[in-house]
Amino acid sequence: MRLPTLVRMVEVGPRDGLQNEKQVVPTAVKIALVERLAESGLTVIEAGSFVSPKWVPQMADTGELLAVIRRKPGVRYPVLVPNLKGFEAAAAATGVDEIAIFGAASESFSRRNINCSIAESLERFERVAAAALGRGWRVRGYISCVLGCPYEGPVEPAVVADVAAKLLAMGCYEISLGDTIGVGTPARAQAMIDVVTARVPLDRLAVHFHDTYGQALANILASLEKGVAVVDSSVAGLGGCPYAKGATGNVASEDVLYLLNGLGIRTGVDMDRLAACGRFISDFLGRAPVSRVARALLARAA
Ligand code: HMG
Ligand code: MG
Repeated sequence: MRLPTLVRMVEVGPRDGLQNEKQVVPTAVKIALVERLAESGLTVIEAGSFVSPKWVPQMADTGELLAVIRRKPGVRYPVLVPNLKGFEAAAAATGVDEIAIFGAASESFSRRNINCSIAESLERFERVAAAALGRGWRVRGYISCVLGCPYEGPVEPAVVADVAAKLLAMGCYEISLGDTIGVGTPARAQAMIDVVTARVPLDRLAVHFHDTYGQALANILASLEKGVAVVDSSVAGLGGCPYAKGATGNVASEDVLYLLNGLGIRTGVDMDRLAACGRFISDFLGRAPVSRVARALLARAA
């Protein structure tokens, strides 16, 4: 097995996790979550998104959050931006220096998620990326539905590779490959990565698995075996996707960290502190963390 020795964990809980919560999470709770996550040693924490509040009401306070959070040196706090309007909002907010643009490898999902075709979205993203790069910001690219679409079924790896190559050409420093509905299995994940790496260098790829069918950790291990060294996850397994029926949460950050620790892969993240973040937000939401590791740690402490 050719495994990386160091993995960067990208924490998406405050955005990808909370965006799917029906109950309003007060800005103060989001701020406390983001600040605690930074104290756990995570170096990238997705803090929110500048999307339409009619589409995703939970993210409407991202500007407020950015104005108040105590930033830890060395930690990045990217936000999602779908169009130039979102870019303007990000530019008017405090301290933004990294954004993520988010496309899809499925036409139907693209329409449901951002109300346009893949080609139209790429045109928009090109303008957003150029504006962001012009300000010296970093731009990350996401691709949803890389292993399956809730409306169209299986997705061709060649389509993923094509979108990834276009995002790379726009100047994205990294492309995160999202199994939005968690249908992937390790062999398919590896086959998809093989096709994508014919167009995009391996060191520019991240993986973003949802655990809907319980395959996320297996898929992450399979991706590590391919040499991918950036893994997205969500504390306490928060999340889902508002535009993908039945999509459960992202793989839990605690579970990913347990796997990486067990493999002797360095992350710089402290398990106790991370698990405490998961308990904090789960207590607020009134439910147990989805993370198996978090539950096991809780049971051991009881
Ligand atoms: P639209 O309706 O086609 O946009 O939405 P529009 O340009 O026609 O504007 C319609 C209205 O929205 C207008 O307001 C605009 O001002 C407003 P009105 O005149 O009706 O009052 N508007 C905005 N407001 C605030 N911020 C903006 C913005 N843009 C327009 N940026 C749009 C298009 C993209 C805006 C919409 O579809 C949208 O916001 N979608 C959000 C989708 C989203 O956030 N999805 C979740 C994130 S993606 C994800 O979770 C997957 C990922 O995690 C990977 C994975 O899991 O695999 C990344
Ligand atoms: Mg996601």
